[in-house]
Amino acid sequence: LRLWVPRDSAALAVGADAVADALQSLAALQGVPLALVRNGSRGLLWLETLVEVDTPRGRVAFGPVMPEDVAALWPALCAEARGETSAHPLRHGIAAQMPSLALQERLTFARVGLTDPLSLDDYAAHGGWAGLKAAAAMAPADILHQVTHSGLRGRGGAAFPAGIKWRTVAHAAGETKYIVCNADEGDSGTFADRMLMEGDPCLLIEGMAIAALAVGATEGYVYVRSEYPHAVATLREAVARAEAAGWLGADVAGSGRAFRLQVRMGAGSYVCGEETAMLESLEGRRGIVRAKPPLPAVHGLFGCPTVINNVLTFAAVPTILARGADFYRGYGVGRSHGTLPFQLGGNIRHGGLVEKAFGLTLRELVFGFGGGTASGRPVKAIQVGGPLGAYVPESQWDVPLDYEAYAAIGAVVGHGGVVVHDDTADMAQLARYAFAFCALESCGKCTPCRIGSTRGVEVIDRIVLHRTNPVVRHQQLELLRDLCDTMLAGSLCAMGGMTPYPVLSALDHYPADFGLDAAPLA
Ligand code: NAI
Ligand code: SF4
Repeated sequence: LRLWVPRDSAALAVGADAVADALQSLAALQGVPLALVRNGSRGLLWLETLVEVDTPRGRVAFGPVMPEDVAALWPALCAEARGETSAHPLRHGIAAQMPSLALQERLTFARVGLTDPLSLDDYAAHGGWAGLKAAAAMAPADILHQVTHSGLRGRGGAAFPAGIKWRTVAHAAGETKYIVCNADEGDSGTFADRMLMEGDPCLLIEGMAIAALAVGATEGYVYVRSEYPHAVATLREAVARAEAAGWLGADVAGSGRAFRLQVRMGAGSYVCGEETAMLESLEGRRGIVRAKPPLPAVHGLFGCPTVINNVLTFAAVPTILARGADFYRGYGVGRSHGTLPFQLGGNIRHGGLVEKAFGLTLRELVFGFGGGTASGRPVKAIQVGGPLGAYVPESQWDVPLDYEAYAAIGAVVGHGGVVVHDDTADMAQLARYAFAFCALESCGKCTPCRIGSTRGVEVIDRIVLHRTNPVVRHQQLELLRDLCDTMLAGSLCAMGGMTPYPVLSALDHYPADFGLDAAPLA
């Protein structure tokens, strides 16, 4: 009998270890030889713990399985393994054919949930290392050309072309060059980086090694937020195994070039996801944002040229090298090429990970894949792109999700986080929360963010308090827009510079929540 029980944090949080233990105990009791693989999560989080069994027709899925369900599930698992079809109420049929998975376009997450994350053999059997092998046989300029031509843009949120960033580092003067992976996934409602690190860590390692070959870097770091202990442990083990197997170390994939990788843990600060604050933290100092220029590509970690990319950016690269830039470029719309792993969260029935090519709409994501709200009430607002992203109202749910189309409506795609609110949400309180979050997480370096965020909380409190007093309300609304202008234009980094996005979108699209009957004063 061969079973899969995820080891992803989301599954562990709902008792996956206890499910695995119960299955093992039953197998031992009944003398059934059991191969139990702890895979990553398929990303269908409402079905965790999702147990899969190997059958002659493919892997059949059952979920959500609680530890107390295991005894009744056991006969069904054994029957499926024999080729019979059970009538168990938690049965979802062949996992790969479930509509929630079959309708996705998984390139980056192709292996997540399918394989044992720490088995290098499993990784190789499912196409792993093909990109690195190809890169090891190529000249650095050709690797750079492939990445540039693929159209891959930074998946952390800023969408800067990865190939141009890599070329800047390749051409920068410096004996030592670094590759740094930003895995400080601080945006509320995002979890794709974590799922990837826990579910397919070798893909990240492979992408970083390719980057090293492309720019001539010899050392790399993955900076993981401290809230992700399972990701850190999985990644460290995967790095050790990859090094022992020759995919990292003195001779990367037989290229004759060296690249070593270390995993470092953050200390719980949101702003350390900003690339220069992250460098400060990696160098052992307090995470405070540095002024740019100089860009990290020229003057980065320890003053050396450094490629900094998000987990999902590096994780997209092996596919590009293995299957060609044109293959990757063929996905998406406009200037947004490839796929994005969207993360559905908040008040949503079917939360989880959906990887699709750019160009689908929020309506397709939230209602098609997500099934609407968990509460069953109408959706009121959807925040896209993390806590600093805009609230998108229904009139914009059919705008294609691509970087330019979203910029045109004053929103951001960001890291692909999608957080749903139903009609009980008070948008003035959510706008207040944006300021409060900024006040809490500000590094304090610049005034508009450090002081402005606290003043913003006060102004929104006054607007709410004086909802029925048009004079005071008018004054405070003017003040609010002034404050947002100052923060947008005068902040050193995205923390202060993007806090106005949720605030202004809430005000512009939901004026009634601020006591206004019609569109607010411009
Ligand atoms: P940015 O636009 O300043 O820079 C983007 C990247 O391109 C940086 O790595 C920068 O060093 C590099 N770059 C810019 N010009 C370059 C050039 N000429 N040559 C080489 N490299 C160049 O944006 P920033 O401040 O790095 O990121 C802001 C974004 O971060 C926001 O759009 C937001 O969506 C996202 N974000 C993501 C979070 C997450 O948890 N993933 C959290 C908060 C914000
Ligand atoms: Fe620090 Fe805020 Fe200024 Fe960014 S905007 S540098 S977080 S004070």
